[in-house]
Amino acid sequence: FQEYDVCIAGAGLSGAVIAERYASQLNQSVVIIEKRNHIGGNCYDYIDEETGIRVSQYGAHLFHTDNSRVWKYVQLFSDWTKYEHEVVGVVNGKHVPIPVNIETVNTLFDLNITSTEEMDNWLSEEQVKYDHEPKNSEEMALSRVGRRLYELIFHPYTIKQWNKEPSELGPEVTARIPVRNNHDSRYFGDPFQALPTSGYTAIFDNLLCHPNIDVRLDTDYFKVRDTLRCKHTYFTGPIDTYFAHLGYKKLEYRSLDFERKVVRDTGERGTFQPKFVVNHPSAGTDFTRIVEYKHLLNQTSDHTILFVERSKDGGEPYYPVPNEENKALYRRYQGLAAKEDNVTFVGRLANYKYFNMDQAIINALELFEKDNGVLSQEKDPIA
Ligand code: FDA
Repeated sequence: FQEYDVCIAGAGLSGAVIAERYASQLNQSVVIIEKRNHIGGNCYDYIDEETGIRVSQYGAHLFHTDNSRVWKYVQLFSDWTKYEHEVVGVVNGKHVPIPVNIETVNTLFDLNITSTEEMDNWLSEEQVKYDHEPKNSEEMALSRVGRRLYELIFHPYTIKQWNKEPSELGPEVTARIPVRNNHDSRYFGDPFQALPTSGYTAIFDNLLCHPNIDVRLDTDYFKVRDTLRCKHTYFTGPIDTYFAHLGYKKLEYRSLDFERKVVRDTGERGTFQPKFVVNHPSAGTDFTRIVEYKHLLNQTSDHTILFVERSKDGGEPYYPVPNEENKALYRRYQGLAAKEDNVTFVGRLANYKYFNMDQAIINALELFEKDNGVLSQEKDPIA
């Protein structure tokens, strides 16, 4: 047996933050076991060989937070370059700002709205009024943007993304999509928005470089757990895989396919599309968005690289499918998890919940503190 104070399954953000805290704050021994051949979980990025451009393997990652503790914490492991994300969508053949703002509405409906008050009035006339709380994603979207924007953007995009009618999905899916009553074309409203200057993978190198931390790649936790003696275990993989031996139904996920395309000889700064991310909500195309990494961090290359995203079932588990059946199934798994001695389930897969990076970080930090007590400011620069 190999003995450790703490064993962690999964080297994504949740596992890496827990590992860093135990090693640096409590001087405990940690092993982090990762079934992929790299650290970083879904935040993993690398330099594409053909173009020299840094790309993310599991989809575009934009860091944004309103939590000053998280912002302080991430400063410890990377330099950051300010970046405010803007997205456009191709709707009726035109590039319009996403989330919907005054310009989106003016362009699509040939209007001349200029003030927040006019936009509020326009939205209020469009919105479908219900005498109950919106029960599903269709009602939620109709109550927020009305039928015309729903049919042009929300309805076709939701079907492409989820392969389900919005009426089959919980209201939270379309509730999350912001709608602006002003000219703000930023995708996120958070005060801290930035990209790690040397990429995301470098943050994980820095989180995990402590001498107390052993990292084992290409290793499935379930294949090695009988060889480990751990005082405490943190499991950050899918909760249903932990209880797979019980034969319950699996939790449903939506996944993505990324088709890589290189456009050659664009010139050093030449790009293919106007923004880093261009959404394609319309039913006329089978992809949801195109991502062009050359837009980030002033990267230069003779070529450019695109990733064309299509949603699919199966493959890597990305987005939990929020319907009643899955929520009930998750609660069963949660009940089992609560009975496991000395095992904590942490992160987006173990909680069957979409977390942004900042949420994953704060959850991990708070869990560490809950399990160990808060440290003094002197010892902990982020206290
Ligand atoms: P994560 O999935 O990263 O890590 C879990 C790790 O556990 C994986 O590496 C997995 O291989 C490993 N594992 C699973 N089972 C195992 C086993 N049996 N044995 C060993 N290892 C095992 N957030 C944000 O703030 N801004 C953004 O722009 C985006 N964009 C984005 C795009 C897409 C497509 C997705 C899916 C997600 C985002 N995110 C995001 C969210 C971000 O990716 C997320 O917050 C973090 O990856 C969460 O980190 P975790 O460690 O919880 O999971």
